[in-house]
Amino acid sequence: MEVIIKPDADAVSKEAARLFQRQLARQPASVLGLATGSTPLGLYRELAAMTQAGQIDFSRARSFNLDEYVGLSPDHPMSYRAFMREHLFTHIDIPPENTRLPDGLAPDVARHCAEYEEAIRAVGGIDLQLLGIGTDGHIGFNEPSSSLSSRTRLKTLTPRTIADNARFFGSEDKVPRHVITMGVGTIMEARSVLVLAMGASKAHAVAAMVEGPIMADVPASILQMHRFCALIIDEAAAGQLKRGDYYRWVFDHKPAWQRA
Ligand code: GLP
Repeated sequence: MEVIIKPDADAVSKEAARLFQRQLARQPASVLGLATGSTPLGLYRELAAMTQAGQIDFSRARSFNLDEYVGLSPDHPMSYRAFMREHLFTHIDIPPENTRLPDGLAPDVARHCAEYEEAIRAVGGIDLQLLGIGTDGHIGFNEPSSSLSSRTRLKTLTPRTIADNARFFGSEDKVPRHVITMGVGTIMEARSVLVLAMGASKAHAVAAMVEGPIMADVPASILQMHRFCALIIDEAAAGQLKRGDYYRWVFDHKPAWQRA
């Protein structure tokens, strides 16, 4: 895993945007795995600005989002479909028909999940998967104890994630209890993975992901097994890493061709 520590959240977003820009320049028809939450907001603003400036081209890209709340229609303001529309899709030139999210209203969830997996396979798999990390070490909505080889499926949120996400809904009781999420195994099949984390509230999860044992109790820890995973974090999120100085040293000494 390549650990890149930046001074602040803004620098994290800018570095991540540069990686997206490079991915699309190299492979214009890339399949992007996208994430929601507050973490990617700065990145999405950068991508919107780059699109405006003609510095990035999404016209041949496809995207698959990690997850969606069960029971929310795509028009519900708190649905992840609405989030993606508001914060990214209306600001970049990706064709709307090239964007996919799980359907929170799917009548047959198991079948829908199998079809989502098949749709990812049919376009050749995900080239670059973007991830945030939950304070409990979850990725997508794969909560602690998720199978590390799980596929897209229904999950029940932990009370902690419900509390963490209540800020978007106004109160905890409005947060749906169930979600559809790509599995940990689905995420691990992406050809490259980019994890972002900002702020001291993520420091514990980041340390467990990078330096802790690989275990289902910290689903993000399986990324230690991914061959091409970059983690870009700010100083606050790096606060509990034992080897922070080493990661900085490596970054400063890496030959340019070997960087994420
Ligand atoms: C949510 C999302 C995750 C996200 C995580 C962290 O549960 N399903 O994809 O990474 O929470 O959220 P935030 O970025 O708001 O801290």
